[in-house]
Amino acid sequence: MRAHIQHGGRFIGYLDDFGARRSPQAKTLVLLHAFPLAAEMWRPQLEGVPAGWRFVAPDLRGFGQSAPGDALAPPSVDDYARDLVALLDALGVGRAVIGGLSMGGYAAFALLRLAPERVEGLVLADTKPEADSEGARADRDAMLQTLERGGAEAVFERMKPGLFGRTTQATRPAVVEKIRNLVLAQPPSSIAAAIQRLKLRPDATPLLPDIAVPALVMGGAEDQITPPDGIGRMRAAIPGAELAILPGAGHLSNLEAPADFNAALVRFLETRF
Ligand code: MLT
Repeated sequence: MRAHIQHGGRFIGYLDDFGARRSPQAKTLVLLHAFPLAAEMWRPQLEGVPAGWRFVAPDLRGFGQSAPGDALAPPSVDDYARDLVALLDALGVGRAVIGGLSMGGYAAFALLRLAPERVEGLVLADTKPEADSEGARADRDAMLQTLERGGAEAVFERMKPGLFGRTTQATRPAVVEKIRNLVLAQPPSSIAAAIQRLKLRPDATPLLPDIAVPALVMGGAEDQITPPDGIGRMRAAIPGAELAILPGAGHLSNLEAPADFNAALVRFLETRF
């Protein structure tokens, strides 16, 4: 179901599979979406929630139904962590397993830095801990120009070759179309603020050796943005982390290979919690 909270006068939207059939004692997994998408990208996972679990997928600030922040405050990836704490508080959830894909992973790292006591476990998919290099920051500036000139559609066209694996590009046109529509639904001003958050996010690499909760590190075998070798390095840096590389999937692995993604996710949740 779709739901929302009000925090500091701002609307935070989220998807929640919590229904009458689920126990109030259920453990919570929060799923944080990629750029420039919204909670809707987690539909295949919200349809496969194992018994004893509640999956919650917020729209990160400015995306989906969540309101943007104060236009005068400089955007920071920490905004996502603060909104997440507000959401967990409103839901009465003390600790949750935090899952993030790509930008969602950066938000998970921000929460780990600002409020580690809220993190019961981690699922890091198609993401990386490093901050942007100089070259990557220049690419962000170019993306801002693309957005100014051509809007969300131009951003999608620029990102498309890297977003999907070759298998999806060749055989899953419905997935590409679904994501195109989701990107086109996002406000350009929110996409611009998110680009600034991505560009200025701090290096999360120093956090990795101190992660003391169960972690699953995942990625698509055909992911060009966060390729499997980087995913493997991230796993090696996190004590005791598990690894799942999904064949036939690119950067949006949860949508490109939903059955394999869900199988790895559910196995992790059922064996580690
Ligand atoms: C994403 O999928 O969220 C983006 O690729 C993240 C990024 O550009 O760093």
